Amino acid sequence: MSESNIESILQEKRVFNPPQKFADHAAVRSMTEYQKLYNLAEQDPAGFWAKLAEKELHWFKRWGKTLDWQPPFAKWFVNGKINISYNCLDRHLTTQRRDKPALIWEGEPGDSRILTYAQLHQEVCQMANAIKQLGVKKGDRVGIYMPMIPEAAIAMLACARIGAAHSVVFGGFSAEALKSRLQDAEAKLVITADGGWRKDKIVPLKDAVDQAIALDVPTVQNVLVVQRTQQEIAMQPGRDHWWHELKAEVSSNCPAEQMDSEDLLFILYTSGTTGKPKGVVHTTGGYNLYTHMTFKWTFDIKEDDVYWCTADVGWITGHSYIVYGPLSNGATTVMYEGAPRPSNPGCFWDVVEKYQVTIFYTAPTAIRAFIKMGDEHPNRRELSSLRLLGTVGEPINPEAWIWYHRVIGGERCPIVDTWWQTETGGFMLTPLPGATPTKPGSATLPFPGIVADVVDLGGNPVGENQGGYLVIKHPWPSMMRTVYKDDDRFRRTYWEHIPPKDGKYLYFAGDGARKDEDGYFWVMGRVDDVMNISGHRLGTMEVESALVSHPAVAEAAVVSRPDEVKGEDVYAFVILNGTHASSDELKQELKQHVVKEIGAIARPGEIRFTDALPKTRSGKIIRRFLRNLAAGEELVGDVSTMEDLSVLDQLRQG
Ligand code: WT7
Repeated sequence: MSESNIESILQEKRVFNPPQKFADHAAVRSMTEYQKLYNLAEQDPAGFWAKLAEKELHWFKRWGKTLDWQPPFAKWFVNGKINISYNCLDRHLTTQRRDKPALIWEGEPGDSRILTYAQLHQEVCQMANAIKQLGVKKGDRVGIYMPMIPEAAIAMLACARIGAAHSVVFGGFSAEALKSRLQDAEAKLVITADGGWRKDKIVPLKDAVDQAIALDVPTVQNVLVVQRTQQEIAMQPGRDHWWHELKAEVSSNCPAEQMDSEDLLFILYTSGTTGKPKGVVHTTGGYNLYTHMTFKWTFDIKEDDVYWCTADVGWITGHSYIVYGPLSNGATTVMYEGAPRPSNPGCFWDVVEKYQVTIFYTAPTAIRAFIKMGDEHPNRRELSSLRLLGTVGEPINPEAWIWYHRVIGGERCPIVDTWWQTETGGFMLTPLPGATPTKPGSATLPFPGIVADVVDLGGNPVGENQGGYLVIKHPWPSMMRTVYKDDDRFRRTYWEHIPPKDGKYLYFAGDGARKDEDGYFWVMGRVDDVMNISGHRLGTMEVESALVSHPAVAEAAVVSRPDEVKGEDVYAFVILNGTHASSDELKQELKQHVVKEIGAIARPGEIRFTDALPKTRSGKIIRRFLRNLAAGEELVGDVSTMEDLSVLDQLRQG
């Protein structure tokens, strides 16, 4: 996030109260009510969650202990038996929701499908039976590499139904990135499609799966392929199976497996400060409850709402707030395959108009792109069905907030700015729209049951409006349980950065923040070597590893620089091997190489060749200086730790 954005956040002082008309019908309709819930949860967290778990979810068997906390390892609803697919589907079938649209899907070319709860249930049962037939058992891991089509959600729910853990890999990741995730998860099956539509082109997903497996993923025994784009693809006999063929054979009766509350539900890989992504582990009962409650209260969901989250199911936002949270609540969730593109800049607003969307949830980067495309696109559509807006992914700059409020929300819709992470499973800081006055740029206050604070490196709370580290002080139901197969990394990354204080463990989120005079949180962005590109997390080390895997590159240092639409953009400093000459062609080749190694989101906006990098005497790259250079700013900060000051002159001139 750029300095100027931070400046304008600091200057923006307006407060927006929940419109009375909205508050009148909201589940939580005043700050007094919010405070009551918050206090209740604070006094007796286990009791608070236990009561909700009982009331809101179906359990095959009640749990014993609500929370078993052996820091930093938590178990929620110990020995309880539950199935999230059952909670998302079966339990709605005996109610009026049976024939209510569960999933409304719009394809990029303009095709569409609506699945009622009964229909979605049937499809999930069929896919569950199909993957069982392919040898998948409770406890196995399944890779899902899909476009945004209903089968992506169906595949997740089918895995959950039989107790297999899914690991969804975003369809924009490359074959190389897919390989390392499938390897780490030791996936037995991959569910994919021939391709997906993205910006009027086919993304050849099945080809990437073939490449990934050929690169070395010996655990994969079968590939289940959904037909979407219908181009010719290679099918390996014995290993590859068409979904539509298996579907015709299997039964649609598949009772949900009784899972232990702490059984693995999914692994989702996310970037960290090393080159190797972390497999974030989420389990069943606590995740189900927390995504259910946050969806219910933050979106103030009503029976006839049509809810649309524009994320991809490949990210946590898609998991928690396209699939599990909405369906567990019996809501109607919209899924859209496309992205705004020059040929169709108003496509999002067409979807809102066509399906009379009432709740719309997107990212600041998308909002900034809409601003650039021009007000005429939303203005030309009927957006009066909207009653609530949401944002996630990065701090929202007040200009974008105000535009969103005015042009999309018609000044009548509250905006919920939700701060959370892959690791937290669900919203941590968020307004409750009928209660919380909002301030543009602030994610406001903790969700009931969440104890958040801003502290220094010693774990001491910092003063009002002072910058510090954002921490969570008490375990919550959907917290990540560990890094897959790496408890040690889990402990180091999240629980030791700020040492336990008086025996109390603090969860370190990796974000900087401050709390204002009203206790409102202002998240400032990552404080580690993780970038935020279009609301997606990307490690500087990951891009560096990708670059040095190219034979021409001797060393690379990656930073981000401010970008008007993406928030941040990748900027790489590269030292070439002696034998290679710098050229524009080589720059292009290296950019392409990063796309091949990671995916298009990691493509550097700029590559700069250099002979040396600023380093400390112990050899650590000083990224701070590189960030200044990338942003075209004066170098700020202490240079006394530098090994060779002439490097800076060189870079300044270069
Ligand atoms: C990081 C988590 C959680 C879904 C999307 C990204 C940043 C997320 C906000 C917000 C300020 C935000 C943080 C966080 N972030 N939401 N509302 N305000 N920053 O998930 O890939 O796990 O990234 O995104 O830096 O740590 P993720």
